[in-house]
Amino acid sequence: MSRPRDRDRATSARMPIAAATPASRAVMLAPSILAADFARLGEQVAEAEAAGADRIHVDVMDGHFVPNISMGTPIVESLRRVTRLPLEAHLMISNPDLFLDQFAQAGIGSFIVHWEGNNDLMRTVRHIKSLGKRAGVAINPATPAAVLEEILQDLDQVLVMTVSPGFGHQHFLPETLPKIRRARQLIERLKPDCQLSVDGGIDPATAPGAIDAGANVLVAGSAIFNETESVTQAMQRLRTAAHT
Ligand code: DX5
Ligand code: ZN
Repeated sequence: MSRPRDRDRATSARMPIAAATPASRAVMLAPSILAADFARLGEQVAEAEAAGADRIHVDVMDGHFVPNISMGTPIVESLRRVTRLPLEAHLMISNPDLFLDQFAQAGIGSFIVHWEGNNDLMRTVRHIKSLGKRAGVAINPATPAAVLEEILQDLDQVLVMTVSPGFGHQHFLPETLPKIRRARQLIERLKPDCQLSVDGGIDPATAPGAIDAGANVLVAGSAIFNETESVTQAMQRLRTAAHT
C-alpha cells in the first residue's frame, strides 16, 4: 500500500488546516480479533494478513474498566508466532501500567491506553516509550478531543471510540464525527504524523464518513470477521468503501 505521508506533511505545512484533504491520506486497516472465531484465530489472522491488513488490533478487557472480559498475553504470544504484522493492544483495563511490560514481552508493538480513569497519563505514555513501543491514547464518546492537546506531542496515535468501549457488534455513533474532525485539526496543528484511528461500528457504510472527518486508521471487528463472507471479501469491501 502506498503511504504518501511525507507528501501530506509537506502539503499541510504550506496550506491551512482545512485544506488537508482526506483523499490524499493513506487509510490503514486494523482488523480487531475480538470478532474472530478463536478456534481458528491463526487461520483468520493469516487471511487478514494476506488480504493486506496493516496491523492486528487486540482488545484487552478486564471486566472492571469495561463490563466485559476478553483476552490477555497468551493470545498475544500465540499471535506473535503466526503473523509478521504489527500487534497493537487496546487496553481497556484499570491500571494499564501494571501490565505494559508483560504485553511488550509477549510481542505488542503499540499500546493504546484510555484517557479516562488515568490519573497520570504522561507517566503511562513515558512508560510505553521506555519500552521502545508506540504510544496511543483512546477517548470515549463523551470525552472531548481537547483533552488530547497537552499529550499529543508524545503520541504516535490517537483513537476515537465511535461506540462505548467493551463490546463488538455495536452501531457507529454519528455524533462522534465532529469530534473526529476536531481531533484531526489538533493533530494537523501539533503532531501531523500522529495517526488517527476510529474504533467501533466501522463498516463499508460508516467508514467513508469517518475518513472524511479525518481518520486514517480503521479498526474493524465484525465487519471483517463474520459469517456472511470470507475475511478476504470483507477486507476488500471495506477497502473499496474507504477509497470512495
Ligand atoms: C470495542 C473494541 C473494538 C471492537 C470493535 O470496545 O474496542 O475494537 O472490536 O468491534 P466492531 O468493529 O464489531 O464494532
Ligand atoms: Zn478496540
